[in-house]
Amino acid sequence: MFDQKKLWDKAHQDGEINHYSSTPTELAEEVIKIIQPSSKILELGCGVGNDSGAFTSAGHHVLATDFSEVAIRKNSERFKDDSNLTFEMLDMSQPFRFADNEFDVVYARLSLHYFTEEITRRVFSEIHRVLKPNGYFCFMCKSTKDPLYGKGKEIEKDMFEYEGHVRHFFNEESARSMLDNNFKIDEIECGDGKFYGSDSAYVKAIATAVK
Ligand SMILES: C[S@@+](CC[C@H](N)C(=O)[O-])C[C@H]1O[C@@H](n2cnc3c(N)ncnc32)[C@H](O)[C@@H]1O
Repeated sequence: MFDQKKLWDKAHQDGEINHYSSTPTELAEEVIKIIQPSSKILELGCGVGNDSGAFTSAGHHVLATDFSEVAIRKNSERFKDDSNLTFEMLDMSQPFRFADNEFDVVYARLSLHYFTEEITRRVFSEIHRVLKPNGYFCFMCKSTKDPLYGKGKEIEKDMFEYEGHVRHFFNEESARSMLDNNFKIDEIECGDGKFYGSDSAYVKAIATAVK
């Protein structure tokens, strides 16, 4: 299997994955409407940090993380004047360094679909641990309806390596199963759209931590 961190570092170095924008994504806009003022947000797999910047512009405090040191270095420079926004390297497949109940919101857009089922369950459990009771967990993952589904080498059920990238595709049932009894699901939706210029399909969920 390709080294996924090297692959993402190269994508971030080459400016491949997304373009700098001050316009939040639809998911970030929706999240901004529902969360409490001055929320403490943990973003996982922040990419170029557009949504992180949108959250701080809306008055929130954000710790934005990614395992790509290239992304973190570029973002730290881009947002150096934003005192409510900190970037930090974090490989979310490893245990989080954060305390229990530390965050009001965990936000992960298109960044949780890279792991085996076992690791994904561990990531969801860490997210539950670091969220305050009733804290929001908002995420979007590629779904089994995505055009890339089934392409390349199968690694396990619904997980494939294609052109070096490993992806674990979700559907509503698997998302519900990952959230399990640890979260109350406020909203779950499957849909399609264009991400980074390509047709795609997703599962989106907004849930709150049950503690
Ligand atoms: C498709 S991009 C999404 C970026 C951004 N959230 C967005 O919506 O545009 C996926 C991001 O997840 C990051 N990523 C992939 N695996 C990761 C891991 N194990 N830990 C942390 N970040 C990871 C990549 O570096 C990349 O920035």
